[in-house]
Amino acid sequence: MSKESKVNYSIFKRLVKFAKPYKSFFFIALLCVILIALSSVLRPLLIADMVQDYIVQNQNSKALLFWTLFIIGMLAFEAVLQFTSSYFSNLLAQNIISDMRKKLFAHITSFRMRYFDKTPIGALVTRVVSDMEAISEVFSTGLVDILGDVLTLVAVVFTMFFVNWHLTLLVLIPIPLLLIATRIFARSMNDSFLQERLQVTRLNTFVQERITGMSIVQLFNREKEEYASFQDINKAHRKAHLNAIWAFSIFFPVVEILSSLSIAFLIVYIAFQVEGVNSADMKSQYLEVIKFTFWISMLFRPIRQLADKFNILQRGTVRAERVFEILDLDEHIQLDGHLNECDFNQPIKFEHVYFAYQNEEWVLKDINLVIQPSTTVAFVGATGAGKSSIVNLLGRFYEFKKGDIFIGQTNLRELELSYLRNNIAIVLQDVFLFSDTIHNNITLGNDSISREQVIIAAKAIGANTFIEKLPGGYDYNVGERGGVLSVGQRQLLAFIRAYVYNPTILILDEATSSVDSESEEMIQKATEELTKGRTSIVIAHRISTIQSADQIVVLDKGEIKEQGTHLELLSIDGFYKRLYEKQFSEQD
Ligand SMILES: Nc1ncnc2c1ncn2[C@@H]1O[C@H](COP(=O)(O)OP(=O)(O)OP(=O)(O)O)[C@@H](O)[C@H]1O
Ligand SMILES: [Mg+2]
Repeated sequence: MSKESKVNYSIFKRLVKFAKPYKSFFFIALLCVILIALSSVLRPLLIADMVQDYIVQNQNSKALLFWTLFIIGMLAFEAVLQFTSSYFSNLLAQNIISDMRKKLFAHITSFRMRYFDKTPIGALVTRVVSDMEAISEVFSTGLVDILGDVLTLVAVVFTMFFVNWHLTLLVLIPIPLLLIATRIFARSMNDSFLQERLQVTRLNTFVQERITGMSIVQLFNREKEEYASFQDINKAHRKAHLNAIWAFSIFFPVVEILSSLSIAFLIVYIAFQVEGVNSADMKSQYLEVIKFTFWISMLFRPIRQLADKFNILQRGTVRAERVFEILDLDEHIQLDGHLNECDFNQPIKFEHVYFAYQNEEWVLKDINLVIQPSTTVAFVGATGAGKSSIVNLLGRFYEFKKGDIFIGQTNLRELELSYLRNNIAIVLQDVFLFSDTIHNNITLGNDSISREQVIIAAKAIGANTFIEKLPGGYDYNVGERGGVLSVGQRQLLAFIRAYVYNPTILILDEATSSVDSESEEMIQKATEELTKGRTSIVIAHRISTIQSADQIVVLDKGEIKEQGTHLELLSIDGFYKRLYEKQFSEQD
């Protein structure tokens, strides 16, 4: 607990490193707060002198006007400084988090798929978006203001001592109490912030998942239950925030009371001083009252703000710690390969390949297989047999545990990952589309692919007609995750994507969901077009798709059971024949 109520300095130091390129912004802001501190400390002296010289003594209204305008000028100057300081500290903050966010995003996108299997999306969104906001506050309102407040404090106390040291000691009496109150406050705030952070992540994850899975929520009439769970999370979230607000709302009045106490001491002291003295001495005592009243207010405000700002620092460092945790994660796939030259038009060989997503729960066992260049291999097998997993290995989305995969003589592990993936196109089982235009979903933002190329590809795949019928054609926005398109249409878009990238090796993981016979025919034709002249691996759920394959591989529980052409496999009374007969009877 006591450890947690402090700012973690190693994290803080690391955070400050991000500020290095923008140190000039920081120093400009700092210079401004130094000037503000000086100017505001001197102002009471000036005011007291004015009262003394022009009001009490000679009532020179001209000079009084001049000095009044001078003070107004000072205030205006302070306002300009305030603006400049806040502008530059915000500039600093936004530059820092923009850098951090870029770094974090690039880092996350390089993680292997395994990481995403176990990390909720909402948690990552929280890191990249709302945690960054908290971190930015460290620089925009935390750091510079703390320095400004400390400076003001030092300047005020110093000047007060200089002017009247015993009066200063007297008005400082409530300060230790204030420090104790601040400490208690900071501790309870820290607890609240930890809670708050937890609840924000929970809320983000929940909302993100429910909205993504909205069709399930509605399909199963889960609205009420989900609403109830949401209410619980919302309540916890509100409670975490309210706890923080509670602490604030108790702390601030306490500060007010303590500062009033200081003023009370001041007045009582002066009252005793003026008892029985002549009127000239009294006047100088009143001047002390004027100065000290100003200074006392300047003393308590920074202390009160310090606690507040310190919490901003704390909150920021707690969030930064979470961000750094991700930045420190080494969730990359083993990138030993640097080879970026290889003829992909060679046989692909699997040699004793073993693979497990977790530990030794083998999903693929002793896979031995040769795929000849420019031929089509089809994988069949029950659901969960490991067909998609083979694809994941070839694209190196997951790391196989034992054995080797070769392309010609080249070990897959020796290839540079981006080079490998540039030569393989994979149409995944679940086609993911971004909420963007059809065109951009096909090119994935690659500007070197022209609209003409996209249209040629779409025509070859046989999807041009349906795309042109959409409002706006290729510029039609498909909505989040391609929600407005049918499964078959999405699959066709993925085919066009693969086609325009023109890979040497093509992998098609057919969607399991059944499509109507018209779409099926279209997909069948598109498949033929795509696989033409390429080394192709097709994972098919319909026998019709694979009958013409050069080689059919039957997988069962992660093992290859049978291998051969359609006719060869039918002639042996095994898995394939049973599968074929089953589908045949279903079609009747
Ligand atoms: N990301 C993952 N993490 C852990 N286990 C996984 C993961 N993906 C798949 N599995 C498991 O690996 C096994 C093989 O899955 P795979 O997706 O390769 O099957 P499949 O043959 O493609 O099935 P389908 O025909 O349904 O697509 C299954 O038991 C599955 O539960
Ligand atoms: Mg699959």
